[in-house]
Amino acid sequence: MAPTPSELRTERLLLRGWTADDRAPYAALNADPQVREFFPERLTRAQSDAQIAVFQEHFAQHGFGMWALELRASAELIGFTGMDLATYEAHFAPAVEIGWRLSRAAWGHGYATEAALATLAFGFEQLELNEIVACTTPSNRRSRAVMERIGMTHDPREDFDHPEVAAGHPLCRHVLYRLGADDWRAGRATSRTERPSR
Ligand SMILES: CC(C)(COP(=O)(O)OP(=O)(O)OC[C@H]1O[C@@H](n2cnc3c(N)ncnc32)[C@H](O)[C@@H]1OP(=O)(O)O)[C@@H](O)C(=O)NCCC(=O)NCCS
Repeated sequence: MAPTPSELRTERLLLRGWTADDRAPYAALNADPQVREFFPERLTRAQSDAQIAVFQEHFAQHGFGMWALELRASAELIGFTGMDLATYEAHFAPAVEIGWRLSRAAWGHGYATEAALATLAFGFEQLELNEIVACTTPSNRRSRAVMERIGMTHDPREDFDHPEVAAGHPLCRHVLYRLGADDWRAGRATSRTERPSR
């Protein structure tokens, strides 16, 4: 397995490790009701800071995690994208799960998709994973659209109740998306073939 890079670069984005300067902007996005629409609660400053510490610990333990997402043009923190290990009680776990959360102003520019594609390439090429999954509430249309744009597929028979959300809570039900390494490679080959004809 190749050594973990501390950062990934795309055309417009830098996926990097977290710094102390990220705490205030990260807390601001976690306090935004629109960003937290599909989560049971908004996060306090202390909860938001603690989450950054969890992300850092995950990198240290597993060699991958949720990167801080920075706009290369302005060096502004716009959220996170990356992967973590899903170890909660679910039929597909343990699994490597991809995720994203962006500040409201950063929606609608394709940044989540751009960062997710770089994350998938890292997961399949560097970590040599066999599969990456994603999950969200059925009504989180924007997140599901990212999953679909990056080639993940959903089988309704795999919908599940998320064990970290209280049973009976309206956000408890989740949809599961999967992407296997072979399908990812096949998708890459197709887009390489299509590129010259555009
Ligand atoms: C989920 C989330 C990251 C999706 O953000 P998003 O901006 O909709 O997704 P993308 O960054 O891929 O951007 C896609 C949009 O940008 C548009 N776009 C504009 N310029 C673009 C470009 N240069 N390239 C690609 N897309 C572009 C696309 O057309 C698309 O627009 P649409 O929403 O009108 O269809 C965001 O809504 C979010 O952070 N939500 C809160 C947290 C959350 O729910 N996280 C997921 C929990 S499972």
